[in-house]
Amino acid sequence: MQVLVIGGTEFISLHLVRALLRDGHQVTVLNRGRQPGRLPAGVSTIVCDRKDHAALRAKLAGERPDALVDITYAPTTGEDVEALLDALDGRVGHALFVSTGRVHDHALPIPYHEDTPRTLYWGEYARHKIAGEDAYLRRHRERGLGVTIVRPTHVYGPMNTRNNETFFFDRLVRGRPVLVPGAGGWLRQFGHVEDLADAMAQMLGLRAAFGQAYNVTGEEAITQVGFVELIADVIKRPLTLVHRETPPPGGKPVPFGQNLVYDCHAVYTTTKIRTQLRIRPRYTLAAGIAQTFDWYSREGLDRREVDFSAEDTLLT
Ligand SMILES: NC(=O)c1ccc[n+]([C@@H]2O[C@H](COP(=O)([O-])OP(=O)(O)OC[C@H]3O[C@@H](n4cnc5c(N)ncnc54)[C@H](OP(=O)(O)O)[C@@H]3O)[C@@H](O)[C@H]2O)c1
Repeated sequence: MQVLVIGGTEFISLHLVRALLRDGHQVTVLNRGRQPGRLPAGVSTIVCDRKDHAALRAKLAGERPDALVDITYAPTTGEDVEALLDALDGRVGHALFVSTGRVHDHALPIPYHEDTPRTLYWGEYARHKIAGEDAYLRRHRERGLGVTIVRPTHVYGPMNTRNNETFFFDRLVRGRPVLVPGAGGWLRQFGHVEDLADAMAQMLGLRAAFGQAYNVTGEEAITQVGFVELIADVIKRPLTLVHRETPPPGGKPVPFGQNLVYDCHAVYTTTKIRTQLRIRPRYTLAAGIAQTFDWYSREGLDRREVDFSAEDTLLT
């Protein structure tokens, strides 16, 4: 298949590019060309800012991909999605849109399944993702475009651009304590980036997935504290947890990864993708953390400079 990937050079989208090449697809990526050196050989690049709709139309005029995977959040609005689809003007077979589990109403009881109502619980981010989902699903209903919505949750793994698992590696390998917001009992669900990339690669062209949305993540829900304890066990480092109350709204949050502090559970069912498409993750959370720590060590990140001054003030 000829696959057009929006993005391609950072985290989820780069893992997808690798998975697509492994599976023998021809890959073109569209991005602003800021990190061309990261792309594997054989990938074509269209340099374009997706927010520039006129440029998008001009650059995509000759493209006729079998599949489109829309990954980049730029932040991508409903209008940006419409502009991309207009630029391809019906010349695409199957479109995957990377949305987020955060479209689900997190004020409702867990777990969230694909039909859990979508709300603006997560503000602008949810608004843009819901608008993007709706734009794709409208094309499916009104023009017969094959469309699949992919909703990942905390994605982790090598090259993560979110400082989550690496945040805890950084502290544990340096023998530092880990601050925990409040009791640290809110449940989180993580998915390994290679499982997400493999799931998307497997979905391409699957008619059963047309017009559908899928939660795509790992199988294990774990508390914030449990996540840190698991990491310490897997990388075999002693752990000291220091609990600090979460400040009132407006106060500086207790440092705890990049986006793991918020006060609600975030747990999702993956029954739909497993039963409808027979797609399931390869990595357990422990195995994925071990593999990510190998990458972190190989990259020499255990020796990088880290500024702990904000935490030091909370620890004294
Ligand atoms: N990470 C998570 O835990 C998580 C969870 C749920 C959902 N998601 C969703 O997953 C998606 C991907 O996230 P990611 O962080 O892994 O990023 P990614 O898509 O791998 O990386 C960003 C890519 O987009 C390109 N890009 C950025 N702005 C652009 C623009 N204006 N026009 C064209 N290309 C642009 C970048 O290249 P240039 O800079 O060269 O343009 C880069 O190739 C997002 O939609 C996010 O909402 C992520």
